[in-house]
Amino acid sequence: MIKKEYFGKAPEGGDVYAYTLENDSGVSAKITNFGGIIISLWVKDKNGERRDIVCGFDDLDGYLQADGYQGALIGRVTNRISGASFQLDGKTYTLCPNFGTFSAHGGKIGWNRRIWGARPIDGDEPSLVLTYVSPDMEEGYPGTLVVTVTYQITAAGGLSLHYEAYTDKKTILNMTNHAYFNLDGYDAGSVAEQVMWIDADTMNEHDADIIPTGKILPVQGTPYDFTTPKAIGKNFDSDSDMEKQAGGYDNNYIFNNYDGQLHLRASLYSEASGIKMQVHTNQPCIGIYTANMLSPDDVPFKGGVKQMPRGAVCFETQKMPDAVHHPEFTDTTLSPGEYYNYTTVFQFKTEF
Ligand code: BGC
Repeated sequence: MIKKEYFGKAPEGGDVYAYTLENDSGVSAKITNFGGIIISLWVKDKNGERRDIVCGFDDLDGYLQADGYQGALIGRVTNRISGASFQLDGKTYTLCPNFGTFSAHGGKIGWNRRIWGARPIDGDEPSLVLTYVSPDMEEGYPGTLVVTVTYQITAAGGLSLHYEAYTDKKTILNMTNHAYFNLDGYDAGSVAEQVMWIDADTMNEHDADIIPTGKILPVQGTPYDFTTPKAIGKNFDSDSDMEKQAGGYDNNYIFNNYDGQLHLRASLYSEASGIKMQVHTNQPCIGIYTANMLSPDDVPFKGGVKQMPRGAVCFETQKMPDAVHHPEFTDTTLSPGEYYNYTTVFQFKTEF
């Protein structure tokens, strides 16, 4: 079942709608064609009650005021690009330094603030096909990109995101979704007790600006080790420089034995709600961000709930941040004739 409702007018004009996708699995999602934002994601808890497990706002205005990229599709390039510029085939491209001296999450007006074309397809596995054509040199990036992101509620009770893109000139692309998850509900407070697992023995080192230094670090024996399931907050206040700089976790984890195929790569579990989320992806990495920068002074979430640091966690499946400056990192270039094709499935299971 798909329900479509009016969600407001975008600043540059154009109507915005919210689509609620629902099937018999017990999982449902409300998604808008503004930025492809997941407004709500409902999952049944161990008592059979629906909980909304992603942070978001009541109306479009909330999303326009907020700067935390809540629930949104991120493009063209997620995370930071140091120096807000890069070179490709000997040419320098200058981006908007929208995060201090660097560019992040697509620039001044990223894809999280664009209106996407929307095609709902109803059925047992309802989906919403979002399309965006990013013009050549949008936000300083070369190439016209035709981008499609398909959201689908699967029969098995998952939210699937299928990212596809083509370009007419060589460019760089590294998309993700920036949903903030709290498996007890977006209004439930800290996620410190929720138990996380990540299939990654290594991660990128970052500097004080959360820019990768180029060094790859083993996680074993450090506060960053989630190779066996551990409460996210167990080492929140460790004396690691990276955690102090970020105010929690803000790290890119590199999956073990990457082979380009869809695999179970991370999970989060709350004993309180009984909800378990498994992250399946064919991306090589995941950015784990524990909402460190969210503040109670920011625009309130749905129903007036205050934002709070460490009150949610983002699972940003992606390639390595700032890869364009590190030839040894995962390649983020896309050339004409190549098919950008990634899938991430957030699979839900409730344990009683
Ligand atoms: C980044 C954080 C950043 C946040 C902005 C995350 O993806 O890793 O460093 O502050 O996005 O909302």
